[in-house]
Amino acid sequence: ARAAGAGASRYAFDEIEAGVDEKHHVAPGYRAEILLRWGDPITADAPAFDPMNQNAAAQKKQFGYNNDYVGFVPLDAEGRRGVLCVNHEYTNEEMMFPGLGRQDKADFAGMTRELAEIEMAAHGGTVVEIARDADGRWSVVLDSPLNRRITALDTEMAIDGPAAGTDRMRTKADPTGTRVIGTLNNCAGGITPWGTYLMAEENFHGYFWTTNLGFDGKPDLSGNSDAARHKRYGAPGMWYNWGQYDERFDIDKEPNEINRFGWIVEVDPMDPAALPVKHTAMGRFRHEGAEMIQNPDGRVVVYSGDDARFDYLYRFVSAGKVSGDKAADMRLLSEGELSVARFNDDGTVDWLPLVQGQGPLTAENGFASQADVVIDARLASDLLGATPMDRPEDVQPAGDKVYVLLTNNTRRKADQVDAANPRAENAFGHIVELTVPGGDHAAPKAGWEILVKCGDPAVAEVGALWNPETSANGWFASPDNCAIDADGRLWVSTDQGSGWSKTGKADGLYALEAEGTGRGTSKLFFRCPIGAELCGPYFTPDQQTLFLAVQHPATDGARDYAPFGRDSTFEDPATRWPDFEANMPPRPSVVVVTREGGGRIAS
Ligand code: FEO
Ligand code: CA
Ligand code: CA
Ligand code: CA
Repeated sequence: ARAAGAGASRYAFDEIEAGVDEKHHVAPGYRAEILLRWGDPITADAPAFDPMNQNAAAQKKQFGYNNDYVGFVPLDAEGRRGVLCVNHEYTNEEMMFPGLGRQDKADFAGMTRELAEIEMAAHGGTVVEIARDADGRWSVVLDSPLNRRITALDTEMAIDGPAAGTDRMRTKADPTGTRVIGTLNNCAGGITPWGTYLMAEENFHGYFWTTNLGFDGKPDLSGNSDAARHKRYGAPGMWYNWGQYDERFDIDKEPNEINRFGWIVEVDPMDPAALPVKHTAMGRFRHEGAEMIQNPDGRVVVYSGDDARFDYLYRFVSAGKVSGDKAADMRLLSEGELSVARFNDDGTVDWLPLVQGQGPLTAENGFASQADVVIDARLASDLLGATPMDRPEDVQPAGDKVYVLLTNNTRRKADQVDAANPRAENAFGHIVELTVPGGDHAAPKAGWEILVKCGDPAVAEVGALWNPETSANGWFASPDNCAIDADGRLWVSTDQGSGWSKTGKADGLYALEAEGTGRGTSKLFFRCPIGAELCGPYFTPDQQTLFLAVQHPATDGARDYAPFGRDSTFEDPATRWPDFEANMPPRPSVVVVTREGGGRIAS
């Protein structure tokens, strides 16, 4: 059955109304239930969450903060058991800690070592077994031996690929340059065909720190020999004050530690004893995600956006082919070719290889080895003439297509537009669709066209492009994450930041038709509570369950929005979703969507 007003969209559900309030909303006939909240126990010996008495030891056994990527690895053929893999991107200290209030980032006067360690333990990832009962409801299997937290505080990781063991990766704590503690700002990610979990390190620069400040209070890098490199990566970001307690986050005291973040991390969810691996062959930048496809020739191709204004789209092609032997396949991301995209105005993309010694990537230009190329992938891509994009977020291959979600870029000037980034002051973002020749994702060229230009189609100045079947509820702004369901259909979740006041719509999940006469038609399926963005999304292979990650409820843009406007702190949040209890702060949570009475979603 096709929903009324959906035109030629193949997604069978009745869309909900756009808007904003304190709750989440899902299409009629569906259940949207809370599976995991910040602080929920992950292991059988974890203490119950007590927001008034937090400590790092407890947080290490509890679900982390700001869930972002969600992946699912089935443990049986019936789809009743599986391992959920969830990234914890960052922390909001004013919303986490009682009595702290909003921090002045110039002095972090209220922060303490203990609070910083709780933050570090709330970052990283969660691997947890879940099971479905006869009624279709999922719950955590608390005593599973697979359950574990990965943190920024104390999870040891290996480093492989061309940068591993080189001078620029060595630190006082790790003279080998092959071992690092923790992972930072894990945004989106991916599940590999061999059942491992990829975590993308995004805004790692924000965790690094200096005490050398200029008269304006900003970092003064004039005495730093890596100043140009730090500048290109926006480091040190000074978002957190961890460098006050742990000198590895101080770029002056431990200059190479920052080179050990900004990578793709591979985790084997089936082996809690195995070290996660940072794969330097895949380049160092602000990786939004890491979605892959198995190429017809057996190699794997991973796409990853560098989420910053005017940064680039990357592709990694493995040297080896998928063998079906898990141990061998877990080495596929250790060696291969990284390249960066140049979008031509004639509707083609050229993939430019990031290979030391080729073209301008020479020692004279600062690239003495492949280690320099991957560590400074942004600088190498600058020299190659890659196309500066409007903040590449998730990039999703599917068949011979690749969907590139460009979230927004209000800093693009009228004289900086190009065919692939066609709007100046692009407040609402767009989606570019690549078509690879003959399904070959390793080909040196692809075609591209714009699928949608986001924003309100009723406002001419916005310059939006949608299928006219899209309703006033169905259009969206600032695409961030996406998923392909079992029927090969595209779903898009949004992150407008505090910019949602420009649309009056909370972030949500949209079914975006990419094929046939309905191409460009979007319908709203799920809506977040105020101040949250929507991450995940992930469908189980049987299409009967959809996992969503509601990130940072009560924060973005919630301060000044009447009638919900609050101080947006622990004591005075704009919503107490999902618990709605007086002494419980809002909690980032994973939501499970199933169909009432069972069945495939939207079909
Ligand atoms: Fe972490 Fe680009 O979103
Ligand atoms: Ca994102
Ligand atoms: Ca994303
Ligand atoms: Ca986001």
